[in-house]
Amino acid sequence: MEYIINGGKTLRGELPVYGAKNCALALLGATVLTDDEVILFNCPNIVDVSNMIKLLQSMGKVIVRNGDTLSVKGELGSVCAPSAYATLLRGSALVLGSSIAHYHRIALPLPGGCAIGARPMDIHLDGLQAMGIDVLYESDMVSCAGIPVGTDYKLRFASVGATENLLCASVLARGNSVLRNVAIEPEVVALEQMLVRMGARISGIGTDTISVEGVRKLHGADFAIIPDRIVAATYLSAAVATRGEVTLTHCRPDHLRAFLDVLQPHCSVRCYGDAIRLSAPEIPCGYGEIVTAPYPLFPTDMQSLMLSLAACSRGKTIIRETLFENRLAHNAAELHKMGADIVVSGNTATVAGKSLHGADVVASDLRGGAGLVIAALASDGTSTVRGVEHIDRGYADLALDFNKLGADIVCKEA
Ligand code: EPZ
Repeated sequence: MEYIINGGKTLRGELPVYGAKNCALALLGATVLTDDEVILFNCPNIVDVSNMIKLLQSMGKVIVRNGDTLSVKGELGSVCAPSAYATLLRGSALVLGSSIAHYHRIALPLPGGCAIGARPMDIHLDGLQAMGIDVLYESDMVSCAGIPVGTDYKLRFASVGATENLLCASVLARGNSVLRNVAIEPEVVALEQMLVRMGARISGIGTDTISVEGVRKLHGADFAIIPDRIVAATYLSAAVATRGEVTLTHCRPDHLRAFLDVLQPHCSVRCYGDAIRLSAPEIPCGYGEIVTAPYPLFPTDMQSLMLSLAACSRGKTIIRETLFENRLAHNAAELHKMGADIVVSGNTATVAGKSLHGADVVASDLRGGAGLVIAALASDGTSTVRGVEHIDRGYADLALDFNKLGADIVCKEA
């Protein structure tokens, strides 16, 4: 699938923001902690969530989708995640902690690296070993077995996925745990809140030190998936790139603070309740220095969006990517085809903004693909963005959403 984008249109209008991919995947992984029914509201209709559902169904979970509500229940018949499904998405790793906690064993094909980096799982597995779990690597599979025992464990890096897995492993552990230097992303906080609703005993929610008192059993619950802050940033980026005006509803402005702080000096941004209204009549004159870091600092998932906004600005921006070792170079090379002036040295891109022209470009990862669409919307002329299958992993229908705002995007089978 590819997008044919006639750039230069000013985007105006209003869009609701749907549920967050990275929240949905974490909460789906946590449903393995109980056989009772867990109901998830506001579940996005995106490829990664569909694949996570297939993975859980292949392991025995009964999952019924009714619009954007999911019902998940039943026990796992198998604690061996079939490679055919587990390798479809990295989020499959998020069944590790919950399977160990409830079934005391799991065999999982290691999801492996992807376009943005090696993405090892050493922190996940080191934390489980600290809980007394036996971890066995067999080629590209990891097998874990044992009953988690409460522990005091400090993550060497505030990994989102490792935090989520260790939280799930600790809630049914024997004894109490203290998890230190954990991630505090909104998606992690949502998981902590749902676990409490399922009967877990957790304190320190939203902080980087979580105390957990292991309980014997968790019960079902219902929970609303939080709005997707990366999708929200993507929509706002399109407004900035096309000097438009966009209002987002059903979002959480407080989850976008670092991103909005970068845009605020250049645009009019108003946040009220669950809405954000942004208008960008002038082309920004560069964004200064941006460094990606764990929440609440500038999110790595918004870096590709920022690279495109910097490329089509009229000033200098320096972007340093500190989380993923390969999340800059590909998009910089693709943006060069559009005339962008970007010099990449190591994990730093120095961008001299200028007007861009249409080109044929290829997406290699989810957020990078969204970034290329943003650049194409800003460009004079027609662009082709290939690799839309990457974009569909995290966006329900990005072309449709932008066309609702006045863009001219045609989807075509590649
Ligand atoms: C989650 O990935 C998100 N994915 C990513 O979003 C996001 O970019 C990332 O967090 C950072 O915010 C989901 O939630 C499904 P990490 P995750 O563990 O958990 C290193 C998207 O586009 N690391 O916080 O895999 C790792 O290599 C995706 O929605 C280890 O070294 O990210 C990376 O450099 C892309 N060892 C850094 O930590 C480990 O055991 C951050 O990774 C784990 C991680």
